[in-house]
Amino acid sequence: MREIRPSISSQRIICEEVAAPPCALVVFGASGDLTRRKLLASLVELFKRSLLDKRFYLLGCGRKKLTDERFRQIAQQAIQEDSSDTSAKAIAPFINRLYYISGDYSDTSFYENIKIKLAELGKKHKVGGAVVFYLAVPPFLYGTIVERLCSAGLSSPGGPDSKRFRLIVEKPFGFSLQSAVELNNKIRGCFDESQIYRIDHYLGKETVQNILIFRFANTIFEPVWSRNYIDSVQITIAETIGVEHRASFYDETGALRDIFQNHMLQMLALVAMEPPMSFEADHVRDEKVKLLRSIRPFKLGELDNFIVRGQYGPGSINGKEVVGYREETGVNPESKTETFVAAKVFIDNWRWKGVPFYLRTGKRLVRKDTEIIITFKQVPHSMFISAGLADIPSNVLVLQIQPEEGISLSFQAKQPGSKVCMSTLNMNFSYQSVFGVSLPEAYQRLLLDCMIGDQTLFTRQDDVEVAWRLLTPVLEAWQNDTAAPYEYAAGSDSFAEADSLIESDGRQWRELRGT
Ligand code: BG6
Repeated sequence: MREIRPSISSQRIICEEVAAPPCALVVFGASGDLTRRKLLASLVELFKRSLLDKRFYLLGCGRKKLTDERFRQIAQQAIQEDSSDTSAKAIAPFINRLYYISGDYSDTSFYENIKIKLAELGKKHKVGGAVVFYLAVPPFLYGTIVERLCSAGLSSPGGPDSKRFRLIVEKPFGFSLQSAVELNNKIRGCFDESQIYRIDHYLGKETVQNILIFRFANTIFEPVWSRNYIDSVQITIAETIGVEHRASFYDETGALRDIFQNHMLQMLALVAMEPPMSFEADHVRDEKVKLLRSIRPFKLGELDNFIVRGQYGPGSINGKEVVGYREETGVNPESKTETFVAAKVFIDNWRWKGVPFYLRTGKRLVRKDTEIIITFKQVPHSMFISAGLADIPSNVLVLQIQPEEGISLSFQAKQPGSKVCMSTLNMNFSYQSVFGVSLPEAYQRLLLDCMIGDQTLFTRQDDVEVAWRLLTPVLEAWQNDTAAPYEYAAGSDSFAEADSLIESDGRQWRELRGT
């Protein structure tokens, strides 16, 4: 396949970023991994881009006993490890706005102390605005923390202060439909839906948001965006990493809960939903939920024809030997937890009836690659049969989410010469080369949106529940199944049973292309 790089007229549209209003961020799990790896790095970037208010402050909460000073040192180190060109001097005004308080999450006096500390810091920093609580703790603590916040008067649903307190909840939101409903009920007893920000960091990725712009800010794609012109859709989230330091969490979670229930279904919803009336939170979320409700439920008697699970065995990644999942430290040596899921789903509505959506996600695969591939139908009749061109390749549109963010479209063209010869060309757009910037970490956008009070990129209660309704029967069937997941070697790109989901329809997975 030949490549062409058309010059893209990137007409600049002035688009000023909106800075956050004054607010306090209270992070539960402040000495943990998520805070160190993602939240602090994202906040400091917002600070550098002048998107944090000068009165912003962060109160870290955790079980570990730390002084403000020690917490600041840890934060500074984490930030500098993440971005080595960040000087201590440049981020000092940010670091000086970090505070820490330790306590036991189940102890009510911890929340009274937080309340006192917030009043003190609020005065010191002259912040009367929103207080955002971020649950960066293991999911089993969500209910306890929310209830204690509530009884300490730090939530006020429906009250005059209801806009003031906001709650960010990390995924996974529940472990099944029932637990998600229970968690929702618990949280909704303390916070209104308008105060709750359920995070799915994929929605904060620029390239995921671009799916909406691509579909709904151009006229040329929408008319062909249906069963009339689209043959199939593939969505892939492939990773090279294994379970890393999260073995005990992952072993209870697995790929279906960790990635499929949220990131994968959210991307599917954005690709397939109807055009919302506006880019307003509830308009977008209404359409996503409608779409997710239209996914055909998996038939339990024939699961293997529609959804299969795998687990990585020993193998090699980038030339380095790696152990199999069951040998990972912290994983049960007899674990049946899946690290790979492949599925074929159908959306039973007018637009998509009969179009297969092939979805796959896995850890320890040969390459990191997140992409959405739209394969169009072949031309109905080739007028070039006499020139030996009976089988004309389909047009393929690739929305490359990561690591090489971009869009490409393949089409046929005549090769120069006296004979009718055809080539498939690829028109590529790369974010990096067109916009010349590396894309911001998803958490930057999500933290900022929450501080501003925009819920568009956060999942709503019905959104989460409809996803669990689809997947809980599958999880239960797998749990009751005595068979282990299919094994694939670390460093491979798939395995026979996952391949047969798609090959039985006469199609193939697209090769993983990331770096
Ligand atoms: C997280 C999952 O939500 O997403 C991880 O819990 C996964 O298991 C990660 O590695 C992938 O995110 P990204 O942004 O690297 O694609």
